[in-house]
Amino acid sequence: MNKNFEELKKAYEYIRSITAFEPYAAIVLGSGLGELADEIKAEKTINYSDIEGFPVSTVQGHKGRFVFGYIGEVPVAAMQGRVHIYEGYTPQQAVMPIRLMSMLGARILLLTNAAGGTSADLAPGDLMVIRDHISCFVPSPLTGENIDELGTRFPDMSSVYDRELSERLLSMDGCLKQGVYCQLAGPQYETPAEVRLVRMLGADAVGMSTAVEAAAAVHCGMRVCGVSCITNFAAGVSDKPLSHNEVQETADRVSLRFKSLIKDFAAKLG
Ligand code: HPA
Repeated sequence: MNKNFEELKKAYEYIRSITAFEPYAAIVLGSGLGELADEIKAEKTINYSDIEGFPVSTVQGHKGRFVFGYIGEVPVAAMQGRVHIYEGYTPQQAVMPIRLMSMLGARILLLTNAAGGTSADLAPGDLMVIRDHISCFVPSPLTGENIDELGTRFPDMSSVYDRELSERLLSMDGCLKQGVYCQLAGPQYETPAEVRLVRMLGADAVGMSTAVEAAAAVHCGMRVCGVSCITNFAAGVSDKPLSHNEVQETADRVSLRFKSLIKDFAAKLG
């Protein structure tokens, strides 16, 4: 059997030895959204570090655990903390939690992240519904032997972000922006020339996550949607140097609005 799938099955069996909980939706909580997990009527939490072979997030402020429970009546699995390629993990490891939530039953994936806006049209504090992504600057999580149990060798990516779910998000808050998210490797922020490059290619926002997760989710048949919290102007869009502090401060400032959007959206799923 495929080595990645063997690891997934081991992790799946470990979780099933603890809980029979079946999430309908999976939510990845990005910067500033971790506290949304407090709004979930939790049935069970499981630390990534307790799951053998599971990648553990090393970023400050990322808790690194699954929260299984209910938002309204909807059974959800929330990831409090994600795993990034820049932490030294392979793309396959970075998407292991997504595949696992799919195996546990999740049909829908809601991705959130912090991102830099590549033009003055997206200001710090804006929330952007992700309509499409550019992932070709980072390695695909689908390379290597295909996991046939999850999906096909050559999955279609012409509609990664589910139109109906995205429209539903947009209808919930008239101030939401929409655009294309570009995943870059990180952990260094981009140079102004790199930001101009991806802007020319059609990217409205840049970040270090999300696209590989979305691709893996489509591969295993999930419906995907996503929201970026624009925490800063990307490098060169303004004169200000970038810092993780600014990213966190903006994410914290917007977190109430972000949280209520995601919570209301999730409660209406199902
Ligand atoms: N670039 C990359 N990742 C980010 C940024 C950025 O400007 N802001 C938040 N995450």
